[in-house]
Amino acid sequence: MSSNPRSVGIVGLGSWLPDNKISNYDLMKLVDTSDEWILSRTGISERRKASEQEAASDLGLMAARRALAAANVRPEEIDLIIVATITPDMFFPATACLIQKNLGAINAAAFDLSAACSGFIYALSVGSQFIANGHYDTVLVVAAEVMTKIINWEDRNSCILFGDGAGAAVLQPVAKDSGFLSFELGADGTGAEYLQIPAGGSRKPASLETVLNKEHFLKMNGNEVFKFAVKKMGDISVKALEKAGLTEEDLDYLVPHQANTRIIDAARKRLGLAEDKVYINLDKYGNMSSASIPIALSEAVAKGYIQKGNIILLVAFGAGLTWGSAVIKWAI
Ligand code: COA
Repeated sequence: MSSNPRSVGIVGLGSWLPDNKISNYDLMKLVDTSDEWILSRTGISERRKASEQEAASDLGLMAARRALAAANVRPEEIDLIIVATITPDMFFPATACLIQKNLGAINAAAFDLSAACSGFIYALSVGSQFIANGHYDTVLVVAAEVMTKIINWEDRNSCILFGDGAGAAVLQPVAKDSGFLSFELGADGTGAEYLQIPAGGSRKPASLETVLNKEHFLKMNGNEVFKFAVKKMGDISVKALEKAGLTEEDLDYLVPHQANTRIIDAARKRLGLAEDKVYINLDKYGNMSSASIPIALSEAVAKGYIQKGNIILLVAFGAGLTWGSAVIKWAI
C-alpha cells in the first residue's frame, strides 16, 4: 500500500431498464389520481416495471456488464463489488454475491450497502477509498432497484413516484487531481419514520397480521421528505464544492437524484445553474432510488453532456434519512 492517496475516478458506466412502461394513465386505473396531478406535482410521466421473474441482481447484472464493457475490464479483474440497494433479491446472501457469481468475478469480494436513494454516492465514496489507499485497483459499484415490488399499489401518495432500473460504475486509479475531488455524506436517523418498510425485519417479523396490514410495503410521509430534500440538496451541494476548493461558478454539470422536478429545481437555483446544465430523466423513469443517479449519469455521458475535464456534481437524499454529494473532475 502506498502512503500517497491515488486519484480515483469512474472509468466506465452502464445502465439497464426493464422494457415494460407504466404510464400515469395506467395508474389512474389503480388509484384515484390523474396525469395532470402527477405531472404537475412530481414531473413524472411514466416509469419502468420489472417482470415477475426479475429481481435486483438481474437488473444489476445487465448494468454491470455494460459498465465493464465500457471500461474494457474483464470480470476477473474486479477486486470488489459493492451493490447499493433497498430492494435486494433476499435478506441474505448479499445481492452483490449473486452478481459476483453471475458475472464470473471470481477474484472479487462482495457486499451490499443500504443508504436508500443516497446509496450510489455512499458506495462510490466507500469503493474509492480502497483504490485511493492502494488496497484494490478495480471496484465495481452497482445500484439496482426493483421498487415496484415494494410499493403499495393502493397508496396514491407513494405508488406514483417509483420505478425500476439499475446503473453501474467501474472505479479505477485515474490521472492525478482528477476523478473524485470530494464527498459529503450524512444521516439523520430521527427522520427514519418518514420513509420506511415497517415490517419484515427483526423489529416486526413477517406474520399474517403484518401482511394483512400491508406493512411490507413502502410507507412515506411525502411532505416531511419534501421539506428535508429541498433544504439538504442545496446545502450539501455547496458543502461538497467547498470541500473540493471550488465554488458554484466552477460547476459544469449537475446530476441530481431523480425524485421530483420541484426538488431538483430548488437545488439548481441555489447553485445558480442554467436549466440545460442539469440532467433530468425522471419524466421517463420516476424515482429509482439508488439507481437514479448512475442511470442519469450514464445517459448524460452517452449524450456528450459531460466531457473530460468537466466539474460535475452528484447529489442525493433518501430514507434514513441519508444524504450524499460528490464532486468529480471527469477523467475519461
Ligand atoms: N393523485 C391525486 N391526489 C393526490 C395524490 C395522487 N397521486 N397523492 C396525494 N394526493 C392528494 C393528497 O391526498 C392531498 O389531498 P388533501 O389536500 O385533500 O389531503 C393533496 O393531493 C396534496 O397532497 P400533498 O401531499 O400536500 O401534495 P404535495 O404537493 O406535497 O406532493 C408529493 C406530494 C409526494 C409529490 C411530494 O410531497 C413529494 O414529492 N415528496 C417527496 C417524496 C420523495 O421524494 N420520496 C422519495 C425520497 S427519495
